[in-house]
Amino acid sequence: MSTQQVRRGRFITLEGIDGAGKSTHLSFIRDWLSGRDVGAAFTREPGGTPLSEKIRDLLLDPGTVASLDAEALLAFAARQQHIAEVIEPALAAGRWLVSDRFTDSTYAFQGGGRGVPFERIRALEDWVQRGLQPDLTLLFDLPTEVAAGRMAGTRVPDRFEQEAADFHRRVRAAYLRRAEEAPQRIVVLDAGRGIADIQADIAVHLQRLLERG
Ligand code: TMP
Repeated sequence: MSTQQVRRGRFITLEGIDGAGKSTHLSFIRDWLSGRDVGAAFTREPGGTPLSEKIRDLLLDPGTVASLDAEALLAFAARQQHIAEVIEPALAAGRWLVSDRFTDSTYAFQGGGRGVPFERIRALEDWVQRGLQPDLTLLFDLPTEVAAGRMAGTRVPDRFEQEAADFHRRVRAAYLRRAEEAPQRIVVLDAGRGIADIQADIAVHLQRLLERG
C-alpha cells in the first residue's frame, strides 16, 4: 500500500448578484484551468448532487412558498450533501474544485435579501462545513440596475430573479460586507468592465493560488 500523501486540492467559489456575468467567466476559468495539471472539476450550488439538484428546483421554483428559516435550511441541506458527496472527496483526492456559488450566497440572499440573521446562518455554516472554507472566492460585483438591464428578456426569472430591485440591492450590500469581513479569501472584481480586463484579473488570482504552494 502506498504511504504517499495526496496533497489536498483547492476550492474556488464564484459569487455575485444575479446577472453579474458569472457564467461567462466560468468558461474562461474552465479554459484556464484545463491548461494546468490540477484535475479541475466544476460544480454548482444549490445543486451538484441528485438530492441537491432536487432541492435547487424547489428553491428556484416561483411556486414554492417557504419561510425564511426553511429557505436557509434547504440551502444548507443541499450544501451538506454536496460537501459529503462531491466537494470533500474531490479535495481529498487532490483535485481543484470550482463551485458556481457557495455559502456567501446564503449570507447574501437569505441573510441580506430575506433578513435571516447572520448569526443563524453562521450556526448552520459551522454545523455543516466543520471549518471547510473556499481557498479563493471571486465576487463579481455590479450595480443592481446594470445587472437587471443585462438580464432583461434573456430568460424566465426564477424565484430570486423575480424579487424587487430592493432585494437585489440588499443582496449586493451583504456580499460587499462579506468581502470586507474576509478580505484574505474574497476578491471583489468590478464586473462592469470589459470582459478582457475582468479575465486578466481572474488569471492573476488563479495564478497566485497556483503558486501559493
Ligand atoms: P444561479 O446558480 O443560476 O446563479 O442561481 C441560483 C440562485 O439561487 C441565485 O438566485 C441565488 C440563489 N441562492 C440562494 O438564494 N441561496 C444559496 O445558498 C445559493 C447557493 C443560491
